[in-house]
Amino acid sequence: MGIPFIDLKAQYREVETAVKKGIDGVLGHGAYVMGPEIAELEDRLSDFSAVRHAVGCGSGTDALIMALMAFEVGPGDAVFTTPFTFMATAEAIALLGATPVFVDVDPVTFNIDPDDLKRKIADIKDNRTDLIPKGIITVDLFGQPADYDRIEPLAHNSGLFLIVDAAQSFGATYKDKPVCSLGDVACTSFFPAKPLGCYGDGGMVFAHNNELHKLLVSIRVHGMGEDRYENVRLGINGRLDSIQAAILLAKFEIFPDEIEKRQQVADRYNDLLSGIDGLTTPALAEGCTSAWAQYSLLARDTEHRTELMGKLKVADIPAVIYYPKPLHLQKAYANLEHSMGDFPVCENIAGRIFSLPMHPYLGAEDQETIAGVLEG
Ligand SMILES: Cc1ncc(COP(=O)(O)O)c(C=O)c1O
Repeated sequence: MGIPFIDLKAQYREVETAVKKGIDGVLGHGAYVMGPEIAELEDRLSDFSAVRHAVGCGSGTDALIMALMAFEVGPGDAVFTTPFTFMATAEAIALLGATPVFVDVDPVTFNIDPDDLKRKIADIKDNRTDLIPKGIITVDLFGQPADYDRIEPLAHNSGLFLIVDAAQSFGATYKDKPVCSLGDVACTSFFPAKPLGCYGDGGMVFAHNNELHKLLVSIRVHGMGEDRYENVRLGINGRLDSIQAAILLAKFEIFPDEIEKRQQVADRYNDLLSGIDGLTTPALAEGCTSAWAQYSLLARDTEHRTELMGKLKVADIPAVIYYPKPLHLQKAYANLEHSMGDFPVCENIAGRIFSLPMHPYLGAEDQETIAGVLEG
């Protein structure tokens, strides 16, 4: 058996009894969609996140779409975000007919750069009569929170909403605050590979504000009003299945411990790899903890990365590039007319980054083997 990139089987051994009991419970009561497990999970995760409301939904993508719909985002609206993220972040903006306005990233944290954000907001205000700045979606890439002390005031002073895409960072904190308590709304994903994952698709939206909560609950089920067959706005089918919620409740029991274990794995990697010539190990900004969705390193340049990934491949050690092609260079956003050179920091990182196996059950011995291969 080789070293897995993410070891969901090892995790399953820890939660098997509880997961089976949870699934059995759902099969017994028969409320397969929006059963009692949903409200229970929402209570547990909103408590954990120190935020008043949580709305379970079908995926992290649905969470973003629902949040944007709650802010009535549509054609003519500019929503600022990073090009160095998973497709869904900017896709949700574009699907609603709004325009994603990309902002370059910080070279150390890989998260949205507040200085460039400030420039881009001013640029849209001053130079684009066809667009109105409406909001910001930050992404806590690989599990590390963005620079909220600088971004929150920027958002509020410019009259913009702030959505936190915490798909990769659920379980992380910023200056002791859980990430899903940040911004006006926070969205997360329970895709199996995420720090807290279910066994299918799932997601959640978090909000402090009561009105936003009501809107999100309505949007989740086709814009329903007081009852399901009264439709007061457009919405989506964004419901979470009861079985997935039951699985998440079982997994949540071990989640805080898993976050600690991920930190230990990251610390071990940092110790083993920080001395290797040409490699840059990940750095956490002051006051941040990470959920370590990924452990991502920078090689000296693309050639060096190809060489290192080649060595890992020969040794049967999985490594993945997140993300080889930034969103501004993707064909799906060709209408935005970007080209290479528009976001130099992001492009430089995309050419050098790669991620190593990362999960709470990764042992010291396997990590030493990986480090040995990279060193050799
Ligand atoms: C940053 C980010 N945003 C959004 C998503 C979308 O989540 P989902 O796959 O649950 O729709 C993901 C997950 O893959 C992600 O990594």
